[in-house]
Amino acid sequence: MEKVVVAIDGPSGTGKSTTAKLLAEKLDYMYIDSGAMYRAITYDVLSKKINPADTKKIVELVKNARIEFRGDDFFLNGKNVTKEIRSIEVTNKVSSVSAIKELRKILVDKQREYAKKFNVVMDGRDIGTVVFPEAKFKFFFTCDLNTRAARRRQDFIDHGMKIPVEKIMLELKKRDEIDTKRKESPLRKAKDAIEVDTTNMIIEEQVNLLLRRVQGLD
Ligand code: DC
Repeated sequence: MEKVVVAIDGPSGTGKSTTAKLLAEKLDYMYIDSGAMYRAITYDVLSKKINPADTKKIVELVKNARIEFRGDDFFLNGKNVTKEIRSIEVTNKVSSVSAIKELRKILVDKQREYAKKFNVVMDGRDIGTVVFPEAKFKFFFTCDLNTRAARRRQDFIDHGMKIPVEKIMLELKKRDEIDTKRKESPLRKAKDAIEVDTTNMIIEEQVNLLLRRVQGLD
């Protein structure tokens, strides 16, 4: 039977991942955090001290990368890198590494593989536009910048890091700029995606809104 894809796109800090994860649990679908895949490659590039401009080396690395989602943990080549991929160093570099065309092609193929075997909830930047243009359900999350920065700050605190909100705001703006203006699969709303502005919503509301749509109740 054809597998169901729920695509959730939008800038960072709009609540995509938390919503996607809870939604997947409720639906008993597999949750795929596509950003984690780009982050893992970025982490590998940084730890192997590869020049982020060395496309050839990076593509080689992605071709051989073994990526696994195991419960709440994320493994790269057998190593648990769940924490490492959230570091500030990775966050600062991930937008430029993920702009590499050849790298995207390989990761997109991997993302499509999951949906051949499982019903999936996948979040990212290009899931409804490029990875699964035919997805049955597409959502595009937006949120006011101040709220996004405050949420990111709380995420960092939860991971034991205290970072000034102004710094986070600059970082978000920079990433938005790269993600929306890049040539390959820029971040944009698919024509048929439902826009969800999460500025004044709590997670439970977001999850319920999506759940009702997927279950055909709204
Ligand atoms: O969702 P996130 O913040 O973990 O994503 C990290 C970066 O990865 C983001 O700045 C852009 C990139 N990304 C992408 O280019 N395409 C995706 N489908 C997901 C993430």
